[in-house]
Amino acid sequence: MNVQALANSVEALEAEWIALGIYENETEPPQSVLGTSLGNLLSTLFQTKDLTGDLGSTSALYGVAGVAARSVLVFGLGRREQYSSGSAFSAGVAVSKRLATKGRGAVAVVLPEPGEDDALAASLVEGLVVGTRGVDIRKREASRHPFTTLHIVKPSLSTDLTSLSAAIDRGVVVGEAINLARDLANTPPAEKKPSVLASRARLLAMENGIGVELWDENRIKVERFGGLLGVASGSAEPPSFVVLEYQNGDQSPTLALVGKGVTFDSGGLSLKPSASMEDMKSDMTGAAVVLATMIAIARLKLRVNVRGYLALTENMTGGGAMKLGDVLTMRDGTTVEVMNTDAEGRLILADALSYAVERKPGVVIDLATLTGACLVALGPKIAGLFANDDALSDALLAACKRNGERAWRLPLDPDFKEALKSPVADLKNLGGKWGGAITAAKFLEHFVGETPWAHLDIAGPSWNDSATSLYDEGGTGCFVRTLVSFIASRAV
Ligand code: BES
Ligand code: MN
Ligand code: ZN
Repeated sequence: MNVQALANSVEALEAEWIALGIYENETEPPQSVLGTSLGNLLSTLFQTKDLTGDLGSTSALYGVAGVAARSVLVFGLGRREQYSSGSAFSAGVAVSKRLATKGRGAVAVVLPEPGEDDALAASLVEGLVVGTRGVDIRKREASRHPFTTLHIVKPSLSTDLTSLSAAIDRGVVVGEAINLARDLANTPPAEKKPSVLASRARLLAMENGIGVELWDENRIKVERFGGLLGVASGSAEPPSFVVLEYQNGDQSPTLALVGKGVTFDSGGLSLKPSASMEDMKSDMTGAAVVLATMIAIARLKLRVNVRGYLALTENMTGGGAMKLGDVLTMRDGTTVEVMNTDAEGRLILADALSYAVERKPGVVIDLATLTGACLVALGPKIAGLFANDDALSDALLAACKRNGERAWRLPLDPDFKEALKSPVADLKNLGGKWGGAITAAKFLEHFVGETPWAHLDIAGPSWNDSATSLYDEGGTGCFVRTLVSFIASRAV
């Protein structure tokens, strides 16, 4: 999709559709159409309460006098004082979801006033890009179509569009990265077996100038990744481990990103009931988000050094599957008694985290659809954030806030580790009845040593069970925006 900045009056704009945002419960039309016949029409519709400006609402007006565009889409921005990166993104998704239902020529979206904040413009573009992509990736007839051209319109003539154009380009890169993460999560599990996903990652890395190493099962054995091998032993498919390396930050410390990549989580011998398995193709979202983030920062040429690690495996019930009572020896020598094969994420992440911190990064951040307990604690829209370092936690929460993505810090108090004691091994992979998101995080903490570390449990926000005007069902690509923004804040 070709996305461009444009300075133009709303009335004179030639496009198939022109989309104009309005704030909630206001009585005056936007400045850009004040005194025009479109402006007068909007005033009337505000009075009759036919237009309210609720975030995510869209109303089509056809054949408006004095407007060159064929149709006008009025979209809600929510309350003016609450307009932020989060609402800009959501409004963008809503507009594209509404208009991308068939092939369109030029679509023009007017920047909500005051329109001077480039970060808000970038978020709007991210949403517009995301909304043009649906979940129907295997339907014969696509139900969503990118626009031929998308104009982002500054309604004042004779303005300098340089910084807006740059913001738009950033928005497109990040929006496309989110769509990659979404597509990967939505892909059927038979089409993204660990080796296939690893090859896909390699191709994408190479196309974007990212260094990449693929480890096959043999190499994973040589590297003593007992957790990853244990989980993979129940599957006919071998595991894969992917190391991505982006170097563009001079001597500055490297940041490490680790992603859980379980391409299907059946639970293993601790088998999940069928209903709990329905969405388990998305148990690789952590890895997808790490890959997508790396691609975005490479395309943006951020001045940073980042390594990404993807731990890829299926969790199945094959004859070789690990059994309860089995003891795995992890990369760092820790022995772990398996007490529930469905607590597999922590086993593969433990090896990946050990390996990541051996290479002495400045910080390490992992993303994982790790526990149902995190959904119980925080609901489906908020990620659990855990960290052994307050400054890192604060910086990540600030990045979440800048982007309107939601995470909430949960504790790592030492007593939670009691639940992970095993009579026969150093640890067991199962905690007690309560605080399951915390005991899982305590397990991971064991493997990061002194390195500043943060863990995002994205079991909730990685996936939408159903769609609204503001988002699609399925994979969300959550935290790509936040991570890119966090990493950008560390650039030299
Ligand atoms: N992948 C699941 C966690 C999950 C659950 C993600 C629901 C998204 C939605 C994870 O591997 C898992 O099965 N966790 C277990 C841990 C338990 C056995 C200690 C869980 O949450 O039930
Ligand atoms: Mn599981
Ligand atoms: Zn899992």
